[in-house]
Amino acid sequence: MQTNDFSSLTLVAIQAALKAGEILRKGFGSAFEINVKPGLQNFVTVYDHLSEESIISSILEVFPSHNILAEERGLQEISSSEDTILWIIDPLDGTTNFAHHLPLFTISIAAYSKGKGLCGVIFQPLSNELFVAEKGKGAYLNGVRLTVSNTQKLDECLITVGLPYDAESSPFLSLQQLQHLSQRGATLRNLGSAALALAYVAAGKTDAFWMYNLHLWDIAAGILLIEEAGGRLTQFEKKPIVSYTTSVLATNQALHQPLLNFLAHSN
Ligand code: IPD
Ligand code: CA
Ligand code: CA
Repeated sequence: MQTNDFSSLTLVAIQAALKAGEILRKGFGSAFEINVKPGLQNFVTVYDHLSEESIISSILEVFPSHNILAEERGLQEISSSEDTILWIIDPLDGTTNFAHHLPLFTISIAAYSKGKGLCGVIFQPLSNELFVAEKGKGAYLNGVRLTVSNTQKLDECLITVGLPYDAESSPFLSLQQLQHLSQRGATLRNLGSAALALAYVAAGKTDAFWMYNLHLWDIAAGILLIEEAGGRLTQFEKKPIVSYTTSVLATNQALHQPLLNFLAHSN
């Protein structure tokens, strides 16, 4: 795939991600203040803000009338027209890793129109992994076309999961489900970046990702990557508001229904 085959939306998303990636790469490992947002272990650093400002200005410079939903700044509604593009941005997915100097974090940028993804970019700056998907044109990692894995059996799977920060008070019994998955022979990992976990399912590096309580900015780009790489994704609790949380199961083709059944009966 030549980059000039992508739409101008995708090209802007790529440029914005690369530029913000440079900011995060420079900040990674340095001494910076860590602030706490409401909620348990909900950190934010100056680099979340610097990355977000950079991405928003890269986008608005080219598309000044588009709307923006960014994790730190919230919703910026510039146009009220129904078909306006909405950019959904997580400027640093994996802040907890970043704050602990662990080298697993990403930038996630997606453009949506009328609730449908048009393009999605996930960039991991330290490994230089650039994941790009455009509606109808496929999903790519550094220019190479992606397809999901072909693993068929639970006991041959590598599944990324997320452990809730609020496990004690969470109404969901995800820890119990994780235990059951592990007892069925699946190998489990928690990467600490939901966007990266989705990108790795799209790339066929892992077989599935499953987690409760995600925000739209964690998954907006990843949803398109999964779709364009031939995977399947179920988004539970889908609501038409911008700041909701949702649960996601993303898998290859073969594992989707078995895992849905398994999760439904393993509480
Ligand atoms: C978090 C990461 C993490 C997931 C959390 C998210 P943030 O995003 O994606 O993997 O478990 O639910 O909030 O706060 O680092 O952008
Ligand atoms: Ca996030
Ligand atoms: Ca974030």
